[in-house]
Amino acid sequence: MISRDDCAALDQSDELRGMRSQFVLDDDLIYLDGNSLGPLSQSVRARVHDVIDQQWARGLVRSWNDAGWMAAPTVLGDRVAPFIGARDGEVVVADTLTFLLAKLVGAALDLRPDRHVIITDEANFHSDLYIIEAMAKRAGRPVEVKVLARADIPGALSNDVALVELTHVDFRTGEMLDLHELTSLAHDAGALILWDFAHSVGAVPLDVTGANVDFAAGCSYKYLNAGPGGPAFAYIRRDLQPLVTNPLPGWLGHARPFDFELEYEPASGMRAFVTSSPSILALAALEGSLDTWQATTMPAVRKKSLALTDLFIELVEQRLGDTFDVVTPREHHRRGSQVALRHQHSYGIIQALIERNVIGDFRDPDICRFGFTPLYLRFVDVFDAVEQLVAVMAGDEYLDERFAMRSLVT
Ligand SMILES: Cc1ncc(COP(=O)(O)O)c(C=O)c1O
Repeated sequence: MISRDDCAALDQSDELRGMRSQFVLDDDLIYLDGNSLGPLSQSVRARVHDVIDQQWARGLVRSWNDAGWMAAPTVLGDRVAPFIGARDGEVVVADTLTFLLAKLVGAALDLRPDRHVIITDEANFHSDLYIIEAMAKRAGRPVEVKVLARADIPGALSNDVALVELTHVDFRTGEMLDLHELTSLAHDAGALILWDFAHSVGAVPLDVTGANVDFAAGCSYKYLNAGPGGPAFAYIRRDLQPLVTNPLPGWLGHARPFDFELEYEPASGMRAFVTSSPSILALAALEGSLDTWQATTMPAVRKKSLALTDLFIELVEQRLGDTFDVVTPREHHRRGSQVALRHQHSYGIIQALIERNVIGDFRDPDICRFGFTPLYLRFVDVFDAVEQLVAVMAGDEYLDERFAMRSLVT
């Protein structure tokens, strides 16, 4: 049996243990939802205050030039690039994720005009499915969207496939797909691939260059901790950039926005995928959030993430037997940074846990989802969270009628 002391010993030798103090977290709160919304950090607070009080309040409109606001989407893109294994000039920060997915799907369809199929995963995030359908309808030619069971995707890669769009870490189960293998299978069929890294960036090491990925996008408000509605990022491999066009052009993606020309001429590189005014306060929060990462590396984060998720799975099994079905893969190479437990009363279980200061979330229809973020989670938090789960189950707390009605956000 693993004891709380064993967990405390793991915390003692944890090389990331000093990082928790950079986050604004109550000591008695166990936050297992950083895969939905990462917490505030001191550096985000400082950076946002600086932008509000100095750049905006004092600099006013001059700050577009003086504080580098115009360059922020690509400057920050270069700072996000190492998280996904991209090179300078391959990433831009803009919009939110669904918008950037739309741009990349549209760009990819234009690059394969003689192909008529998009393949995606039936377990994909619903926003991905909606925007893929919408862009397919607007492709200027008939494009069929095939929404397939994951296992059927490799067999469906015919020479009519223009694009494969996949979410790399499953938002429900935490299963991680094989970036290298699926990218090369898509390429073997002459198709392009677009990866959604919403649950991957800052959670697992990524190597778009090594895997020769064509397109990718992700958000910053989960594991990167850039705040609610934080900006998204898009990656386009360098050699594809001169070949693609932004299907949602706007003045700030123009080569010379302040010439106010009536003809659209795209800026070179990733700047062409900026459409409209960057949200400077949101970009400031992202900048601050990236500062916290300077104290660590992705391999160190991954090592601790796997140790945390292993510990959670082991404790759940030790303490609760087969009460839950652990749907997250046991193999490390197939696991993101979350653990999903299946139970018919998952909604009530999560609500009862939240009342006990353990925050996870519920994903329809029957998943309790727990995210493990190594920057601020301690091994004792994992132990204590399972203790609380045991108490919730022992007291049938999840059956309380308070939990019969679902909130808007689950
Ligand atoms: C996998 C995945 N894709 C897309 C989105 C949509 O992101 P946004 O609201 O930034 O458009 C989310 C949101 O959580 C997500 O988890």
